[in-house]
Amino acid sequence: MKQFNNSVPRNTFSSIFVKFAVCFLFLGLAYRLFSSSLVQFSPVFVANNDGPRLDVDKTLPPQVVAAVAEPPPPEISGDPFVNLDDHHISENATEKCNLFIGDWIPDPNGPRYTNSTCQTIESPQNCMKNGRPDFDYVYWRWKPRDCNLPKFDPKKFLKIMRHKSLAFIGDSIMRNHVQSLLCMLSEVEQAVDVYHDEAYKNRRWSFPSHHFTVSLVWSPYLTKAHTFEDDNGVSTGLTQLHLDKLDTIWTKQYENLDYVIIAGGKWFLKSALYYENNTLMGCHNCHNPNITQLGFKYAYRKALNSTLKFITGSKHKPFVLFRSTAPDHFENGEWNTGGYCNRTSPFKTGEIEINDTDEIMRRAELEEFEKAEAIGSVNGVKMKLFDTTFVSLLRPDGHPGVYRQFHPYDRKDKNAKIQNDCLHWCLPGPIDSWNDLMMEMLIKDLFFILYLALSVLLIIRDDNEAGRAVVKDPAHTARAPSQVEGVVLASFDLPYPYVTNPA
Ligand SMILES: *[C@@H]1O[C@H](CO)[C@@H](O)[C@H](O)[C@H]1NC(C)=O
Ligand SMILES: *[C@@H]1O[C@H](CO)[C@@H](O)[C@H](O)[C@H]1NC(C)=O
Ligand SMILES: *[C@@H]1O[C@H](CO)[C@@H](O)[C@H](O)[C@H]1NC(C)=O
Ligand SMILES: *[C@@H]1O[C@H](CO)[C@@H](O)[C@H](O)[C@H]1NC(C)=O
Ligand SMILES: *[C@@H]1O[C@H](CO)[C@@H](O)[C@H](O)[C@H]1NC(C)=O
Ligand SMILES: *[C@@H]1O[C@H](CO)[C@@H](O)[C@H](O)[C@H]1NC(C)=O
Ligand SMILES: *[C@@H]1O[C@H](CO)[C@@H](O)[C@H](O)[C@H]1NC(C)=O
Repeated sequence: MKQFNNSVPRNTFSSIFVKFAVCFLFLGLAYRLFSSSLVQFSPVFVANNDGPRLDVDKTLPPQVVAAVAEPPPPEISGDPFVNLDDHHISENATEKCNLFIGDWIPDPNGPRYTNSTCQTIESPQNCMKNGRPDFDYVYWRWKPRDCNLPKFDPKKFLKIMRHKSLAFIGDSIMRNHVQSLLCMLSEVEQAVDVYHDEAYKNRRWSFPSHHFTVSLVWSPYLTKAHTFEDDNGVSTGLTQLHLDKLDTIWTKQYENLDYVIIAGGKWFLKSALYYENNTLMGCHNCHNPNITQLGFKYAYRKALNSTLKFITGSKHKPFVLFRSTAPDHFENGEWNTGGYCNRTSPFKTGEIEINDTDEIMRRAELEEFEKAEAIGSVNGVKMKLFDTTFVSLLRPDGHPGVYRQFHPYDRKDKNAKIQNDCLHWCLPGPIDSWNDLMMEMLIKDLFFILYLALSVLLIIRDDNEAGRAVVKDPAHTARAPSQVEGVVLASFDLPYPYVTNPA
């Protein structure tokens, strides 16, 4: 009797009940969010890795059919994507969908923005404005083999990103990506330019009604680098890379970030001297018999290792997307030897082989990421591979080519050679799909966050100490809004950073 009337067990019972109620509430909410992106799984594809692909031709608009009708080249043995498949498709399709294995399928809806609706497209990527005559390249969307990829939802994205800060850290491909994101978000809210450095390499935008900040951080080597180059790419000395020291431009703001997209890339192909522990270890293309030729491969691996070591060792744990290399599509030459890219439709899987250089870079990325992931999973680091290499490789048609310039054929001298850009992407263009992929990865992460929130809530209830949540303030030293909106960017926008021979 006495025991039964004791209030302590009663309270315990009721508190357990509250916990369960809260638990159900959260799980329900999480399920709703999660399922909204998963209910569109296509049953046709599930667990059908080797079956026929979606017969896209039936849905192609007539002009596109003509373009893709050319017979695919024979299967190349030793296709690097066989390895790629081994690496990732082994998981069962029913359990997990690899977002990065799939095909480009026709999308009659076309792009979400145009050169007229988005005011912030930088001139070298503004293919429509620059007079590119064909438009098919904007009527495709990425379709993962084993699931559907919903289109980027700017409203939902801004909702998820409320009170958050997102940074893009890397080279000009990062800039290309951030421009695509800003165009897509402009449908809901126009970004306010809150900071830029003199050369517009480092920038920050805010979305005031969502308290969301996007930064672009210029760090093409991610590691400490001394360059002796002017804005036109004219070099007066070899770049000095400190492979064991990171570029403080990104590390010093790292703890203010909630989401990070980071990547290395083509700058490592440049001639450079490599240092570790302040000692010259070797070089790439330095043409000095006294210095060991280590090659870019060595430096790339070391630099990624240092970068990932920082990320996995940091006390601050933002959600990190580590992006794989962005392939280029110069044909019949390189960027400086008359290479061009004038295709007007995507490749299908198997129709193109990855370039050796890109393959070396991607391999280093995958291997370093795998090692880091193992360490990170112990340390509670949220890090995912944003593996866009293959997705992008299939889009030779999405680069500006000669249309990096305004109406290139209107010039008087019709026979003059026109520089092509077969590395960056037209906006709108294939890079917009990176945001579809990013969104999907964030939503899946959100499910995880809700789960964490639930655990934290229960712990807080147990400890009976509520309201100690730290409100994070990015404490950005935001300068006054820029007065120079729409300024024509200086020549820093070098599309071809990977000069391999010193000038
Ligand atoms: C996963 O796939 C393998 C082979 O692809 C199959 O043998 C296995 O039964 C599948 N497992 C489940 C749970 O579907
Ligand atoms: C957009 O591109 C079209 C050609 O595709 C051109 O006629 C139009 O003037 C451009 N608009 C702007 C605002 O650049
Ligand atoms: C780095 O160089 C210093 C001397 O400059 C040396 O004392 C130290 O052992 C070196 N560290 C490593 C890890 O090589
Ligand atoms: C290489 O070292 C030798 C001996 O120290 C020196 O004479 C020569 O000038 C060096 N070569 C270069 C290219 O620095
Ligand atoms: C970096 O390289 C070292 C030595 O090869 C390796 O042990 C480590 O796992 C790599 N990655 C990270 C994130 O430290
Ligand atoms: C692409 O350019 C090359 C060289 O100028 C030309 O031979 C070829 O016909 C062009 N292809 C297309 C699809 O325009
Ligand atoms: C790959 O691309 C790089 C840079 O454009 C070039 O230097 C290299 O020759 C290409 N390799 C192959 C095998 O096409």
